[in-house]
Amino acid sequence: MVEPTLRVFPDAGALAHAAADLICAEVRAKPEAVLLVATGNTPMPTYAELARRAAAGEADFGRVTAVQLDEYVGVPEDDPRSLWGWMERAFVRPLGITRTVRLSDPATFDAELRALGGIDLAVLGLGPNGHLGFNEPPSNPGAPTRRVTLTPASLESNRAYWGDLPVPQDALTAGMPVILGARRALLLVSGEHKREILRRTLTEPPTPEVPASFLQRTPLTVLADAAAAP
Ligand code: PGA
Repeated sequence: MVEPTLRVFPDAGALAHAAADLICAEVRAKPEAVLLVATGNTPMPTYAELARRAAAGEADFGRVTAVQLDEYVGVPEDDPRSLWGWMERAFVRPLGITRTVRLSDPATFDAELRALGGIDLAVLGLGPNGHLGFNEPPSNPGAPTRRVTLTPASLESNRAYWGDLPVPQDALTAGMPVILGARRALLLVSGEHKREILRRTLTEPPTPEVPASFLQRTPLTVLADAAAAP
Protein backbone atom coordinates (compact mmCIF):
# COMPACT_ATOMS: atom_id res chain seq x y z
CA MET A 1 0.00 0.00 0.00
CA VAL A 2 1.17 3.52 -0.80
CA GLU A 3 1.10 6.10 1.96
CA PRO A 4 -0.87 9.20 0.86
CA THR A 5 1.06 12.46 0.91
CA LEU A 6 -0.60 15.32 2.79
CA ARG A 7 0.59 18.85 2.11
CA VAL A 8 -0.89 21.73 4.06
CA PHE A 9 -0.93 25.36 2.87
CA PRO A 10 -1.70 28.56 4.74
CA ASP A 11 -4.65 29.43 2.51
CA ALA A 12 -6.62 28.43 -0.58
CA GLY A 13 -4.47 30.65 -2.83
CA ALA A 14 -1.24 28.89 -1.87
CA LEU A 15 -2.99 25.54 -2.30
CA ALA A 16 -4.12 26.53 -5.81
CA HIS A 17 -0.60 27.54 -6.76
CA ALA A 18 0.84 24.22 -5.59
CA ALA A 19 -1.92 22.24 -7.30
CA ALA A 20 -1.28 24.13 -10.55
CA ASP A 21 2.44 23.33 -10.22
CA LEU A 22 1.69 19.60 -9.90
CA ILE A 23 -0.76 19.59 -12.82
CA CYS A 24 1.68 21.52 -15.03
CA ALA A 25 4.50 19.13 -14.11
CA GLU A 26 2.32 16.18 -15.11
CA VAL A 27 1.49 17.80 -18.45
CA ARG A 28 5.12 18.75 -19.12
CA ALA A 29 6.15 15.14 -18.50
CA LYS A 30 3.29 13.81 -20.64
CA PRO A 31 1.78 16.45 -22.95
CA GLU A 32 -1.01 14.07 -24.01
CA ALA A 33 -2.00 13.37 -20.38
CA VAL A 34 -5.57 12.30 -19.65
CA LEU A 35 -6.96 14.38 -16.78
CA LEU A 36 -10.11 13.61 -14.82
CA VAL A 37 -11.54 16.99 -13.86
CA ALA A 38 -13.79 17.81 -10.91
CA THR A 39 -16.07 20.82 -10.77
CA GLY A 40 -17.21 22.29 -7.43
CA ASN A 41 -15.87 25.35 -5.67
CA THR A 42 -12.60 23.97 -4.33
CA PRO A 43 -10.66 23.54 -7.60
CA MET A 44 -11.73 26.89 -9.10
CA PRO A 45 -8.71 28.90 -7.87
CA THR A 46 -6.45 26.13 -9.23
CA TYR A 47 -8.14 26.24 -12.63
CA ALA A 48 -7.90 30.05 -12.67
CA GLU A 49 -4.16 29.77 -12.02
CA LEU A 50 -3.83 27.18 -14.82
CA ALA A 51 -5.75 29.50 -17.15
CA ARG A 52 -3.42 32.36 -16.24
CA ARG A 53 -0.40 30.19 -17.04
CA ALA A 54 -1.91 29.07 -20.35
CA ALA A 55 -2.67 32.67 -21.34
CA ALA A 56 0.86 33.73 -20.40
CA GLY A 57 2.36 30.93 -22.51
CA GLU A 58 3.82 29.29 -19.41
CA ALA A 59 1.87 26.07 -19.91
CA ASP A 60 0.45 24.25 -22.94
CA PHE A 61 -2.62 22.03 -22.58
CA GLY A 62 -3.16 21.62 -26.33
CA ARG A 63 -2.69 17.84 -26.32
CA VAL A 64 -4.33 17.11 -22.98
CA THR A 65 -7.62 15.19 -22.79
CA ALA A 66 -10.02 16.46 -20.13
CA VAL A 67 -12.48 13.88 -18.80
CA GLN A 68 -15.71 14.80 -17.06
CA LEU A 69 -16.14 13.35 -13.56
CA ASP A 70 -19.87 13.76 -13.01
CA GLU A 71 -23.05 15.30 -14.39
CA TYR A 72 -26.63 15.87 -13.37
CA VAL A 73 -29.31 13.87 -15.16
CA GLY A 74 -31.93 15.78 -17.13
CA VAL A 75 -30.01 19.04 -17.37
CA PRO A 76 -29.38 20.20 -20.94
CA GLU A 77 -25.97 21.52 -21.94
CA ASP A 78 -27.14 25.14 -22.04
CA ASP A 79 -28.73 24.96 -18.58
CA PRO A 80 -26.72 27.04 -16.08
CA ARG A 81 -26.52 23.95 -13.85
CA SER A 82 -24.83 21.77 -16.47
CA LEU A 83 -21.61 20.48 -14.94
CA TRP A 84 -20.25 20.06 -18.45
CA GLY A 85 -20.92 23.76 -18.99
CA TRP A 86 -19.11 24.58 -15.74
CA MET A 87 -16.13 22.45 -16.76
CA GLU A 88 -16.04 24.09 -20.19
CA ARG A 89 -16.12 27.62 -18.77
CA ALA A 90 -13.65 27.02 -15.96
CA PHE A 91 -11.24 24.51 -17.47
CA VAL A 92 -11.62 23.42 -21.08
CA ARG A 93 -11.88 26.76 -22.86
CA PRO A 94 -9.53 28.90 -20.74
CA LEU A 95 -6.81 26.25 -20.91
CA GLY A 96 -7.18 25.81 -24.67
CA ILE A 97 -8.13 22.14 -24.39
CA THR A 98 -9.52 20.54 -27.53
CA ARG A 99 -9.81 16.90 -26.51
CA THR A 100 -12.54 15.96 -24.07
CA VAL A 101 -14.52 12.97 -22.88
CA ARG A 102 -18.00 13.83 -21.70
CA LEU A 103 -19.94 11.75 -19.27
CA SER A 104 -23.30 11.38 -20.96
CA ASP A 105 -23.60 7.61 -21.37
CA PRO A 106 -22.16 5.26 -18.75
CA ALA A 107 -22.24 2.44 -21.33
CA THR A 108 -19.62 4.10 -23.54
CA PHE A 109 -17.68 6.23 -21.04
CA ASP A 110 -15.51 3.48 -19.54
CA ALA A 111 -14.74 2.03 -22.99
CA GLU A 112 -13.64 5.47 -24.20
CA LEU A 113 -11.33 5.82 -21.22
CA ARG A 114 -9.89 2.35 -21.73
CA ALA A 115 -9.15 3.24 -25.36
CA LEU A 116 -7.25 6.31 -24.11
CA GLY A 117 -5.20 4.17 -21.72
CA GLY A 118 -6.97 5.30 -18.53
CA ILE A 119 -6.59 8.37 -16.37
CA ASP A 120 -3.12 9.80 -15.78
CA LEU A 121 -4.12 12.38 -13.18
CA ALA A 122 -7.42 12.78 -11.31
CA VAL A 123 -8.08 16.24 -9.92
CA LEU A 124 -10.68 15.73 -7.22
CA GLY A 125 -12.63 17.56 -4.56
CA LEU A 126 -13.93 16.01 -1.37
CA GLY A 127 -17.67 15.95 -0.74
CA PRO A 128 -18.73 17.09 2.71
CA ASN A 129 -20.19 13.56 3.02
CA GLY A 130 -17.04 11.88 1.70
CA HIS A 131 -18.31 11.37 -1.83
CA LEU A 132 -15.93 11.14 -4.78
CA GLY A 133 -17.48 12.51 -7.93
CA PHE A 134 -21.06 11.50 -7.21
CA ASN A 135 -20.10 8.16 -5.73
CA GLU A 136 -22.28 8.78 -2.72
CA PRO A 137 -21.94 6.86 0.52
CA PRO A 138 -22.18 3.94 0.56
CA SER A 139 -20.02 3.21 -2.50
CA ASN A 140 -17.63 0.30 -2.63
CA PRO A 141 -14.40 0.36 -4.66
CA GLY A 142 -16.06 -1.60 -7.46
CA ALA A 143 -19.04 0.74 -7.86
CA PRO A 144 -19.26 1.27 -11.64
CA THR A 145 -19.87 4.34 -13.75
CA ARG A 146 -23.59 4.75 -13.29
CA ARG A 147 -26.66 6.79 -12.55
CA VAL A 148 -27.16 7.63 -8.86
CA THR A 149 -29.70 9.43 -6.72
CA LEU A 150 -28.07 12.22 -4.77
CA THR A 151 -28.07 12.03 -0.98
CA PRO A 152 -29.67 14.81 1.07
CA ALA A 153 -26.15 15.95 2.04
CA SER A 154 -25.12 16.41 -1.60
CA LEU A 155 -28.40 18.11 -2.51
CA GLU A 156 -27.72 20.51 0.33
CA SER A 157 -24.07 21.20 -0.56
CA ASN A 158 -24.89 21.56 -4.27
CA ARG A 159 -27.61 24.09 -3.49
CA ALA A 160 -24.85 26.61 -2.86
CA TYR A 161 -23.89 26.53 -6.55
CA TRP A 162 -27.23 27.34 -8.14
CA GLY A 163 -28.98 30.11 -6.22
CA ASP A 164 -32.72 29.73 -6.58
CA LEU A 165 -32.62 26.90 -9.13
CA PRO A 166 -33.44 23.45 -7.75
CA VAL A 167 -30.64 20.91 -7.53
CA PRO A 168 -31.28 17.95 -9.84
CA GLN A 169 -32.01 14.77 -7.87
CA ASP A 170 -30.09 12.32 -10.04
CA ALA A 171 -26.64 12.29 -11.52
CA LEU A 172 -24.13 10.28 -13.50
CA THR A 173 -20.77 9.61 -11.96
CA ALA A 174 -17.51 8.13 -13.14
CA GLY A 175 -17.24 4.86 -11.27
CA MET A 176 -14.93 4.17 -8.38
CA PRO A 177 -12.60 1.98 -10.50
CA VAL A 178 -12.11 4.88 -12.93
CA ILE A 179 -11.14 7.22 -10.11
CA LEU A 180 -9.13 4.75 -8.04
CA GLY A 181 -7.37 3.51 -11.17
CA ALA A 182 -5.86 6.92 -11.93
CA ARG A 183 -2.07 6.75 -12.05
CA ARG A 184 -2.08 9.66 -9.64
CA ALA A 185 -4.79 11.53 -7.76
CA LEU A 186 -4.81 15.04 -6.32
CA LEU A 187 -7.42 15.65 -3.65
CA LEU A 188 -7.99 19.36 -3.08
CA VAL A 189 -9.59 20.25 0.24
CA SER A 190 -10.22 23.67 1.70
CA GLY A 191 -12.28 25.06 4.54
CA GLU A 192 -13.00 24.21 8.14
CA HIS A 193 -16.21 22.38 7.12
CA LYS A 194 -14.07 19.70 5.41
CA ARG A 195 -11.74 19.02 8.33
CA GLU A 196 -13.62 16.15 9.94
CA ILE A 197 -14.41 14.36 6.66
CA LEU A 198 -10.77 14.75 5.57
CA ARG A 199 -9.64 13.23 8.88
CA ARG A 200 -11.96 10.27 8.30
CA THR A 201 -10.84 9.99 4.66
CA LEU A 202 -7.20 9.72 5.59
CA THR A 203 -7.14 7.98 8.96
CA GLU A 204 -10.06 5.57 9.18
CA PRO A 205 -9.90 2.12 7.61
CA PRO A 206 -11.32 2.49 4.09
CA THR A 207 -15.09 2.13 4.19
CA PRO A 208 -17.96 2.51 1.69
CA GLU A 209 -19.43 5.02 4.16
CA VAL A 210 -16.60 7.39 3.16
CA PRO A 211 -15.97 6.59 -0.52
CA ALA A 212 -12.96 8.92 -0.63
CA SER A 213 -11.25 6.77 2.01
CA PHE A 214 -10.47 4.19 -0.70
CA LEU A 215 -8.01 6.73 -2.10
CA GLN A 216 -5.72 5.66 0.75
CA ARG A 217 -4.88 2.64 -1.40
CA THR A 218 -3.86 4.72 -4.43
CA PRO A 219 -1.01 7.08 -5.33
CA LEU A 220 -2.63 10.07 -3.68
CA THR A 221 -1.48 13.59 -2.91
CA VAL A 222 -3.78 15.59 -0.67
CA LEU A 223 -3.45 19.36 -0.81
CA ALA A 224 -5.31 21.01 2.08
CA ASP A 225 -5.46 24.51 3.41
CA ALA A 226 -4.82 25.08 7.10
CA ALA A 227 -8.53 25.29 7.90
CA ALA A 228 -9.18 21.81 6.48
CA ALA A 229 -6.05 20.09 7.74
CA PRO A 230 -6.86 17.39 10.28
P1 PGA B 1 -16.82 21.73 -3.26
O1 PGA B 1 -17.47 20.33 -3.64
O2 PGA B 1 -15.47 21.76 -3.92
O3 PGA B 1 -17.76 22.75 -3.85
O4 PGA B 1 -16.73 21.78 -1.77
C1 PGA B 1 -16.74 19.16 -3.47
C2 PGA B 1 -17.61 17.96 -3.74
O5 PGA B 1 -18.81 17.99 -3.40
O6 PGA B 1 -17.11 16.96 -4.25
